[in-house]
Amino acid sequence: MSKLFTPFRLKNLELKNRIAMSPMCMYSAGDDGQITDWHQIHYATRAIGGIDLILQEATAVEKRGRITANDLGIWDDTFVADMKKFVKLIHSLNCKIAIQLAHAGRKCEVKNEKIIAPSAIKWNENYPIPTEMNKKDIRDVIISFTQAATRAVLAGYDAIEIHAAHGYLIHEFLSPLSNHRNDEYGGNTINRTRLLQEILTEIKKIIPTDMPIFIRVSATDYVKGGLNIDETMTIIDIIKDLVDIVDCSTGGLLSPRIDLYPGYQIKFAEKIKNSLNIPTAAIGLITRPEMAEEIVGNERADLVLLGRVLLRQPYWPMYAAHILKADFIYPTQYIRGKY
Ligand SMILES: Cc1cc2nc3c(=O)[nH]c(=O)nc-3n(C[C@H](O)[C@H](O)[C@H](O)COP(=O)(O)O)c2cc1C
Repeated sequence: MSKLFTPFRLKNLELKNRIAMSPMCMYSAGDDGQITDWHQIHYATRAIGGIDLILQEATAVEKRGRITANDLGIWDDTFVADMKKFVKLIHSLNCKIAIQLAHAGRKCEVKNEKIIAPSAIKWNENYPIPTEMNKKDIRDVIISFTQAATRAVLAGYDAIEIHAAHGYLIHEFLSPLSNHRNDEYGGNTINRTRLLQEILTEIKKIIPTDMPIFIRVSATDYVKGGLNIDETMTIIDIIKDLVDIVDCSTGGLLSPRIDLYPGYQIKFAEKIKNSLNIPTAAIGLITRPEMAEEIVGNERADLVLLGRVLLRQPYWPMYAAHILKADFIYPTQYIRGKY
């Protein structure tokens, strides 16, 4: 019997299978950060294809927290009405949806925004020097994340993922390479984790107690002196009681050459799951059903996230169920297309 097609539960989030869609920016929002027809079609297609949990792309909690001018946003209350309709559409297709709350920090490319970061260190030569955040900026960002979470709850999302990876603001605080602060938000691991810890603490106060929180981390910076898996495990240990599952990605803080091969990040999900006894999601060049089955079957991770493969094969879960001989409930309209 396929393990990939067994149910999984995180608090109130009940999933039929272990396959989820990884967050992928579409850079297709309106200039005001709103959901467009593209998002409706793109996400609904994956829901019809059998994805049971969508992790919606990075959605900016502040205007200056966007990566590009066409990122999705959730920085004020006007977003809630459209998001509510969108979530309802995804639910009508028997799929759950989490929102990835994000702040780009020094990687913001939007013209005329004041770019902030823990320290005044630019990402690369093509980016401006960010303004080092003062205590008020830090407080404002914590409030922005918390208000965004309140809006996500109002819109009906099933879970929240905090984007603490890929060189964006929270990761910039976590890594010693981008955080050179001398105050209580910089220096040792506990201090560098403080912003993330405070964001999670505030969010937990306002979301329903049975709503799960995902955290996406970059388990390693792939650079000497940066985050490695051991320090990442220390960080997760600090925030363990504030999150329900760790989504294990890597990189993005700098741009070193890295070797990419099938499942190149699974080992991090496996180590965190087994060492810290917390559920994990594996991501990164997982493309074949047998590979996904192996990850879940051998308890290397609890969920398998799919990214680019879903851009070319939106009905991947249908196909995987066929290959793994698992039961799969087709939408009535598609039964005649059954394998
Ligand atoms: C077009 C595109 C957009 C992405 N946007 C995001 C994002 O919004 N948030 C995020 O955490 N990761 C983002 N990623 C990374 C993916 O979620 C995933 O971790 C990565 O593509 C590796 O998985 P894969 O080999 O299955 O594609 C993006 C990747 C792609 C290809």
